[in-house]
Parts: sequence; structure tokens; C-alpha cells
Amino acid sequence: MVLPQLGAWVLDELPRLNQAILHNDLAPPALNEALREVILPDLPLPDRLSVAQAQQLVVNLGFVGASVARHYQERTPGGKETPERAFDALEAGTQQIPFQRYFAALADHTGTGHDHRDSYASLVRWNVGTVEVRMGERTVAVLPGVFDDGRTRTYTGTSGEEHFFALVKKGEAVERAINDLLEPLATPETRWDSPEALSRVRTATVLLGALRQLFLEFAALPPEHSMPPEQFMDVFRQFAVHWTPGDIPPSGALDIEGLKRDFLLGIAIPDYATHVRRLFPGLLTEEREALERLMAQPTLPQRVAAALDIDLDWLSGAEVADLRRLVARHPVLVDWYDVLTAHARAAGSHLMLSKKFLFKPQRQRDAAGIGDKAVVSNRTGTTGMTETYLERLTRARRDHVLAALHPALDAEVGEGAPRHAVRSDLMGIEPVEVLLVS
Ligand code: HEM
Repeated sequence: MVLPQLGAWVLDELPRLNQAILHNDLAPPALNEALREVILPDLPLPDRLSVAQAQQLVVNLGFVGASVARHYQERTPGGKETPERAFDALEAGTQQIPFQRYFAALADHTGTGHDHRDSYASLVRWNVGTVEVRMGERTVAVLPGVFDDGRTRTYTGTSGEEHFFALVKKGEAVERAINDLLEPLATPETRWDSPEALSRVRTATVLLGALRQLFLEFAALPPEHSMPPEQFMDVFRQFAVHWTPGDIPPSGALDIEGLKRDFLLGIAIPDYATHVRRLFPGLLTEEREALERLMAQPTLPQRVAAALDIDLDWLSGAEVADLRRLVARHPVLVDWYDVLTAHARAAGSHLMLSKKFLFKPQRQRDAAGIGDKAVVSNRTGTTGMTETYLERLTRARRDHVLAALHPALDAEVGEGAPRHAVRSDLMGIEPVEVLLVS
């Protein structure tokens, strides 16, 4: 009985308490008292739980832990330097296990290699209901959650948070569909000009267009259907605090499908694998393993080039006439140019979102002398990425290994429309629908 009670409490009571504390209607100890009196004492030992129950509890206690940690750090001078002190007097179960030790055992019991704190996986993938990506009659990706209540847990009970979590999970589902199409091509047996390979890469291009569209549509929504930037910066992001110094707070940067796509398609940032490995504690075991596998392999464009005996370094210095001859000999290059370009355009739209909801408003605050938030800085992302770094990533995706083909392709299109837009219309690929189905 205790788990359903806790679930209901996290859905309804925790947001109410958080709101009251943020509005100074309640002192932060009220939350810890409620936890000590109502929630924590009856928690079962983690190894008594099924894996599904442990996953649900990781999500629920993730919201609890983030709330406790945020209020402590916001209200305690020097609290940022001693984040674990937030949990000092919180003990779980009849055996009075310290909160962080209990959470760690719970996370281990899921068998997923989940971090000993809340994470992208718990907040987004496990929390939000099932997202399906459809193309006509075909379902091309299904991303379930771990609850079947049709609800999304939030810190403060606002629709803005629900919209944000849903957006990220929808984005990840589209990206999963893309990777599921591309990943099987990473084998020596692939015949790059086969109908199967062409269909995979072209469908991936269309899905990347849908991902970009998802970003653009969110940016264009009225505030009541998205999340106003002030809410993103001052309320939502301030829960992405450290639980121990140096741990990895939740971030879109831990979206495994985005990371995998960079290693499948390639990205010319020399220290990129080091950067990604730094995020490993925030990922799940199977995600870390998948990335290690991809990091050790040639990228798909490198495989295409090797199979067609093309020296990629030669492209950037080649004459347009030579490039045209090359494309005429190997039309499949156009499809790979298109998918890489669509990938770059999606990254460009994501960069726009990060500027609109974070970097630009913070610059305005700095110019107006308002300054930054004390707990989670709005001058960088939660894992420390700066606007400059996100711009660098986007540029690197734009400067992909086939970018030099551009002058040889433009002539072919003629109308001045972006290539992939022209081609997806011509290809007759079904339009993409992204649905939160439960
Ligand atoms: C309003 C919506 C969004 C905003 C404001 C936003 C903002 C940001 C910020 C500030 C970062 C840097 C993170 C850090 O330092 O840890 C970031 C990174 C990232 N976000 Fe988002 N994001 C949004 C939506 C999304 C969605 C929907 C996805 C997934 C489909 C996503 C995927 C990523 C990825 C993969 C990164 C790593 C950087 C990169 O690969 O370019 N984001 N985002």
C-alpha cells in the first residue's frame, strides 16, 4: 500500500509543498517533516521490490530528492558546497537507512546502472507515458514509461513542466526511430545503393525534418502551451541541483539517442568522446555500452566513402566539375548529404530553443544588472555546456564530411529550396506523427 500512497503524494502533495515553499508560504523544513512523518518510514527495503516498482520509486524519490536538495541549497548559506547535508535527517524504512544510501540501493536494484540520484532517464523516459512515432500505418518507434496512470510527475504541478517533459520524450522517440533505421547499416555487408539502404537513409532524413519541426513548433507555441522562459530558468532548472559535489544533474545532454546519432553520423570535434564520457555517470549501463560500441567504429559516412573508394579529405579541395562527376557516378552520396544536412538543421533548431529559453533572456538579465540564480546558473546548461559550445557543436554538424558537395548539388535542384525538403516530397514517404498515447 505504501507505494501507491507515495505515488499519489508525489503527484499532488509534493508540487503543492514546493509551490508553497517557493512562494514563501511555508518554510522548507515543512517538506522534510512531511517526508519524515508520512512518506519515508514505511518504505520497504529495496530488495523486496520488483524491478518495475524500483523504477517507479526511483522516479518518485528522484522528485523528492531534487526538491529537498534545491530548497536546502537555496536557503542555506554555503549549501551549494555541501549538497548532501540536505538529506541529513532523512531516513527510509523501519531500518532507518539514510536517504541517499536508500536511493542508491534502489537505483542498483533496477539493474539498469541508474545513477545514485535523479537522472534524465528517470525524469523523462520513465516518468512520461508511452510515446509513439508513426509514419502512415507504420509505427516506427515506441518509447514506454514505467507508469500506466497517464500522468506526468512534476516539481510544481504546472502544465509548463508537463509540456517540457513531453517535448523531450517526443524528441527522443523520433531520434530512436532515426537510429533504429541507421544503426543496422553499420556493417560491412551493407550495399549502400540497395533499395533497403536507400529507404532507411531517406526515411531517417524525413524523421530528422520532423524532429526539427517539433523544436520549431514548441518555440512558436503560446506560453500557456509551452513553458515560459522565466519558468524554465527560475523554477524548473533550479531543481537540477547536485546531490553530491561533481555528480551529473539531469539534462537534455543525456539524451542517449542524440548522442548515438552523433557517433553514427560523425562530428568533427576532436575531444567529443571525452566530453561524452564525462556524462557517463548520468546514463544507464546499456547506454554507456552502446556509446562505447559506436565510438570504436567508423561512422556511417566513413563506411560509405570507404565502400565507394572516395577520399573524404579530397572533397573540400575538389573542383565543382569533379564533384558533379562524382555525384553522377555515386548518386547515393546525395542521400547521405541530405541526411547529414537534415541532422545539422535539427541541431540548429535545438540551438535556437536553447537561446530562446535560456541564453538570450539571461544575457538580458545580465545587461539589466539582474544577475544570475544562485543555485543553478542560467549562464550555462546544467552539465556545464555554454552557448558557445552548443554553437560549436551545431557548426561541426553543419561542416559535415560531405558538406563540400554543396555546390555540385545546388545546380541539380535549381529552385533554391533546401534539398531534403525537395526530396522528401518527391520520395512519397509518409508524414510523421508523434503521439503521447498513454
Ligand atoms: C525548450 C526546449 C529545450 C531547451 C531550452 C534546451 C536547452 C538545452 C541546453 C541549455 C543544453 C545544454 C545542456 C547542458 O549543459 O547540460 C541542451 C543540450 C542538449 N539538449 Fe536540449 N533543450 C531543449 C529541448 C531539447 C529536446 C526536445 C531534446 C531531445 C530531443 C534535447 C536534446 C539535447 C541534447 C542532445 C543536448 C546536448 C547538446 C547537443 O547535442 O547539441 N533538448 N539543451
